[in-house]
Formats: sequence, C-alpha cells, structure tokens
Amino acid sequence: MSRYFLSATLILVVGFWHYGRASRILGIFPTPSISHQVVYRGLTLALRERGHELVIVTTDPVNDPNLTNYKEIDVHSLYDIFIQDVDWIATREKDTWSNMFDGFMSKLELECEEILEHPELRKLYAPNSGEKFDLMLIEMLFFPSLMPLATRFDVPVIGMASLGLNLNMQYAVGNPIMPSHPSNWDTDEKIFGELTLWQRMKNFVRIWKYLYKYWTRYMPAQQALARKYFGNDIPDISDIEKNVSLVFVNQQAPITYLRPNVPKIIDIGGFHVTKKIKPLSKDLQKILDDSTQGFIYMSLGSNVKSVMLANGTREEFIAAFSKLPYTVVWKFEDEFLPNQPPNVLIMKWAPQQSILAHPNLKVFIYQGGLQSTEEAISHGVPVIGFPVLADQDIHVSKLASLGVGKKLEILTVKRDELIEAIQSVVYDTSHKKRMLDLRNMLRDKPYDSMENAIWWTEHVIRHKGAPHLQSTLVDEPWYQRQDMDIVFIISAGSLVALCFTLVVFHKLLICSIRAFNKLPSSKKDKLH
Ligand SMILES: *[C@@H]1O[C@H](CO)[C@@H](O)[C@H](O)[C@H]1NC(C)=O
Ligand SMILES: *[C@@H]1O[C@H](CO)[C@@H](O)[C@H](O)[C@H]1NC(C)=O
Repeated sequence: MSRYFLSATLILVVGFWHYGRASRILGIFPTPSISHQVVYRGLTLALRERGHELVIVTTDPVNDPNLTNYKEIDVHSLYDIFIQDVDWIATREKDTWSNMFDGFMSKLELECEEILEHPELRKLYAPNSGEKFDLMLIEMLFFPSLMPLATRFDVPVIGMASLGLNLNMQYAVGNPIMPSHPSNWDTDEKIFGELTLWQRMKNFVRIWKYLYKYWTRYMPAQQALARKYFGNDIPDISDIEKNVSLVFVNQQAPITYLRPNVPKIIDIGGFHVTKKIKPLSKDLQKILDDSTQGFIYMSLGSNVKSVMLANGTREEFIAAFSKLPYTVVWKFEDEFLPNQPPNVLIMKWAPQQSILAHPNLKVFIYQGGLQSTEEAISHGVPVIGFPVLADQDIHVSKLASLGVGKKLEILTVKRDELIEAIQSVVYDTSHKKRMLDLRNMLRDKPYDSMENAIWWTEHVIRHKGAPHLQSTLVDEPWYQRQDMDIVFIISAGSLVALCFTLVVFHKLLICSIRAFNKLPSSKKDKLH
C-alpha cells in the first residue's frame, strides 16, 4: 500500500516538476524550401521531446498524428508564390544576387501577407484569443513584418537561420558589416579568399547599396504590412528585431569563412543529419552493391533541379558520364533523360543520406547547398560542386580550399573538364582522407549542437529574454557602428588643413616673389 502511495506521489511530483518546466513555444518558419525547414524541424522536434508544447507555422508540416503537443499550421501554399516559376540556373547567368532581391521583394511581401492572413494563425493572434506562449522561434531571413507576433504574445524571441546570416540580419543583430570579407555569401563578386582592391570596392558599393534598398524600400513596406495586421500602435519592427534574444545560425567553424560575431549568435549545425540511416530499396541496394568499380551520385538539390540544366550542359554531363567506368545515380526530375547512357540511373527523388552512406560511393556531384554539404562531410564523401545560387558558392569555395572537393561552373562546364575533375577526386585519395579528417574535426567539440541549442532555448525562457547578451552596437546608427563618421571627419579635417596650408604657402610664395621683384637690382645682385 505504502509502496503504491510512494510511486503515485513520485509520479505526481515528477509530473508536476515536468509540467513546471514545460513551455509553450510558437515557431514561424516561412521559407518554402525543404532544406531550410529540415533544420528548424530538427530543433522543434527535439524541443517537443524535452516536453515542451509547440505550435509551428511551416511550409512542410510533418503531419504525424502521433506527435502530441506539436500543432502545425500548414503554409505549403507559399511554394506557389516563391519557388514555382524560378529557373535558378538561368537566373545565375542573367542576374546578380542584389538585383535578384529587387524581384524578390514583392514576392516576400506576398508571403508574409499570406501567413498573416492564414485563418488558423489569425485565430491564434486575435487580441481576445486567450493564447499564451513563453517563446517565439522565427526564421531570420526576410520576415520582419511577422515580428509583432512576439509583441502580441509578450514573449522573448530566438531567431534561426538555416544558413549563414544574410547581411540585413547581420546588421540587425549588431554584427559589423564587412563588405569585402569572404564571410558574406550575399555579395555579387562570387570570389572568396583573396580579393583585389577593385573587387573589394565593387563589393563595398553593392553591399551598402543593397542595405540602403533594404532599409528604404523593404523595411517600410514590411512596417506597413505589420501595422495592417497588428494595429498602428505596434513598436517599430526594427526595434523588435534588434531585441531578439539569440540567433541560432547554422554554421560550423571548420567549414565557414569565420567572422567576428556578437555574443547572441549561437552556432548550430547538422540538425537534419540522421543518426539512423534508412535502408535503401532492394533494387537500388543491389545496383550500388554491384558497382564494385564505384559509383557517382549527382543531385542539384530540391530548389535547383537537374531538369533546369540547359540542353547543351546536360549533354556535357551525359557525354562525360558515358565515358566513365562507374555507375551514376542521377537525381533527374523527369521520366526521360535524352541519350541516357547505360551506366546512368535516373531517379526523380533520391534517398540522399542513405546513398551517401554507401561504401562504394566515390564522389558526390552537387550544387553546394549547406545541408547537402553537411551530409557529404558526415559520410566522408568528397564532392564536386556546381554552385547555383545564394550561399552555395561560399560552401563550395570553402570545401575546395580545404582540398576535399572541386569547384566547377554550371554555366560553362565541358565534358573533359568534368571527367578530369571526377578522375582526380577518385584517384587522388587524399580528397577522401581530408574529408574524413574534416568529419572528425566537426565532431570533436565539447557539446552536442542540439543539446547546446536546447539549453540556450530554455535559458531564454527561464530568464524571459537575454538582454545581457545584447551589444550596444544595435542602438548605434550605421556610420557610428563602422566609425565612418570619425573617418569622415578626420579625412575632411585633414583635407581642409592640407588645403589651408597649401593656400597659405602659395600666398607666402607669391608675396615673397613679389617682394623680391620689387627690390632694387643692386640688392638682388648681393643676394646672389
Ligand atoms: C527592447 O529592449 C529594451 C531593453 O530591454 C526595451 O527598453 C525596449 O522597450 C525593447 N523594445 C521593444 C520594441 O521591444
Ligand atoms: C531542348 O531539347 C528539347 C528536346 O529534347 C527541345 O524541345 C527544346 O526546345 C530544347 N531547348 C532549347 C533551349 O534548345
């Protein structure tokens, strides 16, 4: 009896203790791209496991009825606004990133509006909804109009970025803007490493121009949108943004061009890499097992698609593959591949992590997406990267600089170049060895990224924010942060002083020449 009583009490106590710690978290993840969503999903599912209750706005819900305490608001329709009609490969040829942003602005506004209009979310944030939260998690990319949700629920905010922070967010959290530094992925000069003075100047001008456009066109439109849905008395969205408690940024030192960061930036990484590899289908398993010479896996990811390749480029890939002694598994999103060689297998969708885990894999040909990069490293597979957009250039450049892969250009690649790159990665086993070293380096750290992120999340919940991590830089205007005002005043002052000295000197010289000319010639002779 007493034993029963004891266990019942224990269960109650543990239950209450657990209940006491459990928090209700709102997550807002608007980017219609699975590679972004899997990172956020990694954390939100782990927080659920910890006993927290979550309400998630996402374009890719898990839709698992067994997930209790995990409500999803489905905004899959955002794919129709953003992704549907973009041929990223064609865009790479035509446009620079900052020009592309001009075109994105209206689409991003439509996205935010669609989210704020969503009936389920509207019900949630209606003033009399009675809904309570302890924290808001939000994707930090281009969605400041959604920030007043935090004001509405009076909760601290943790930002999340599934890739390196973009420039407007670097600025928002108080990070220095270093326009010509290789750590910026959203520069137009796709060169990382040593830049010439001219290239740095071009980056400088374009980056400040982009930020100017962001502040003078995008932010006011976002502010207007926020007012429309949350009322006119909401604070300035940039003020809510700069008060973000923490930002989880998907970046791991060994594979990043490092930059100085304010303390509220917490690195995460590898959230989506599965620990349990799912078995391959029987057919595919047999094909890969039988490829004793080795096989190549090619996928351009979920946003960029192999069907977007220009006919000529696709022909170059086919010609190169047909000359190789390896099987090629190609994620090609069509029923039919023209001139498909017998050693090439096409799949509309590929179980990427399971394929990367196969021991016969020699090289992974990909577009340089961060999530695929992390997967390749975690399986020790050397890569050949064909970056197409956004942060893909920076990841491929970094891997190439580490000697674990090669970087080629998707718009101009020729068959011989591709064959040479593949053969050199396959024959020169140092690529593979360095990739395994890199994997060990990434794993060698004092804590697990996920446990660390959970600890920080609960830290912010416990203390209702983290103003102790806030740098005073966020309150300073741009010129003061970069000390541009001081540089300007000193330069202008020096210039004025220099001009003044020159004028005085010039005047003195004229005066003395005149004085000299007025002297009687006898005295002039004496002076000589
Ligand atoms: C931001 O934080 C500061 C200091 O904690 C506070 O005074 C201010 O009201 C906050 N602003 C907003 C918009 O939440
Ligand atoms: C590419 O090839 C297909 C047929 O395979 C053809 O219909 C299409 O017009 C070609 N596109 C270009 C840009 O040449």
